[in-house]
Amino acid sequence: MSDNEKTAEPAPETAPETAKEVPLFKEPPSDLALRYPTVMDLRKRARRRVPRFAFDYVDGAAGAGETGMARNAAALDAIELVPRYGLENFKADMEVELFGRTFAAPVGIAPMGLPGMVWPGGEEAFARAAQAARIPFTLGSSAGAPVERIAELAPDCTWFQLYRMPRNDLAINFDLVRRAEAAGVHVLVLTLDVPARTKRPRELRNKLIIPYRPGLHTVMDVLPHPGWLMALSKHGQNAFANYQAYAGENLPNREVVKFVRQNSGGTFTWDEVAQFRERWPGPLVVKGILHPQDAERAVELGVDGVVVSNHGGRQLESAPASVDVLPSVVAAVGDRATVLFDSGIRSGEDVVRALALGAKSTLSGRAFMYGLAALGDRGPGHVAKFFFDEIAEAMRQVGAHNTSEPQDLVIRHPGAFEL
Ligand SMILES: Cc1cc2nc3c(=O)[nH]c(=O)nc-3n(C[C@H](O)[C@H](O)[C@H](O)COP(=O)(O)O)c2cc1C
Repeated sequence: MSDNEKTAEPAPETAPETAKEVPLFKEPPSDLALRYPTVMDLRKRARRRVPRFAFDYVDGAAGAGETGMARNAAALDAIELVPRYGLENFKADMEVELFGRTFAAPVGIAPMGLPGMVWPGGEEAFARAAQAARIPFTLGSSAGAPVERIAELAPDCTWFQLYRMPRNDLAINFDLVRRAEAAGVHVLVLTLDVPARTKRPRELRNKLIIPYRPGLHTVMDVLPHPGWLMALSKHGQNAFANYQAYAGENLPNREVVKFVRQNSGGTFTWDEVAQFRERWPGPLVVKGILHPQDAERAVELGVDGVVVSNHGGRQLESAPASVDVLPSVVAAVGDRATVLFDSGIRSGEDVVRALALGAKSTLSGRAFMYGLAALGDRGPGHVAKFFFDEIAEAMRQVGAHNTSEPQDLVIRHPGAFEL
């Protein structure tokens, strides 16, 4: 019998014992998975589906060359994991416990200011998808839906992010903390890495500035996007909804936006972080940490977690790739707090790379936003499923049974930052 004939033998009807619970070949991919096999496919469709100012808001970054954003991607790509084979066939357990709650996979939705501008109603779409998929959704305080509404839609998965509102000794921030607690928010996130407004050239080219002055350029931009316009007529624009109460209930949106611009600014100081620690009884996380000594400082103040992040390259073009400083932050924090990672994640393998370098879990910004822009309300759920499939596959590829085992892999990390 030739080798060819041997391979042509019919497969046994029942799978071998070890593979019983784990189909070796998964379900055939869904239509969406066939059309958008990668985040970059979603990005491509997003570019066509929403007005240019909305796409560039998501896709752009700081600096003339946007090199910080590119550095994140290149640094993740450069990380090599050496897989282990010959283990039994197993089902990778993707669940992860974060701050006392169990989530379905080590990925969540990062805070983003204006999902509702990218796709009107976007905040609610994120919340629904997060609750259905059981992953965290971090509502940005600048977003277009109030925290109370989001916590109602995603009671198990809502995290809430704050920017600094210095006036009256942080009175607005502290009131938002009170509201978040009353609404049942799980985790409070303080973003530290926006000490100054930054220049994002694409936003300037599109005149995406506050106060926004719509003109002929806006009309020309939105008219070719009927799906986006329909979503707009259904949901309207409600930027900075969380601040409406402080700006004045009856003020038009435009005035609320102006109010927020006038009243926000600067980075939270360590003294201020300590004040939030006193007021917020739940898990407290600081986001935007790149230096291990900053992580150390935060841990000393009693935070429960840090997000190693360079804001997706949107703030400081010359910042190191967030993944390149991850190991030193992990070493500095030890087991005193939870280390989360974001900036540059575009695939399940990127998530596993971050886990391998010691992150407990990850957040993704643009991947979810491209999904929202490309597919509207069903986009965020599609991206969650995309990550689930890819993370499970990557874990099995490297031989990791659970989300902590990637840390035992042999890794090559050429860009690792020695601090
Ligand atoms: C469109 C957009 C808006 C963002 N707005 C905020 C924000 O309001 N607050 C914040 O802490 N981070 C914000 N970020 C940063 C994200 O939380 C996250 O750090 C970043 O997107 C991670 O990089 P990635 O996009 O490569 O995943 C924003 C990011 C994007 C893409």
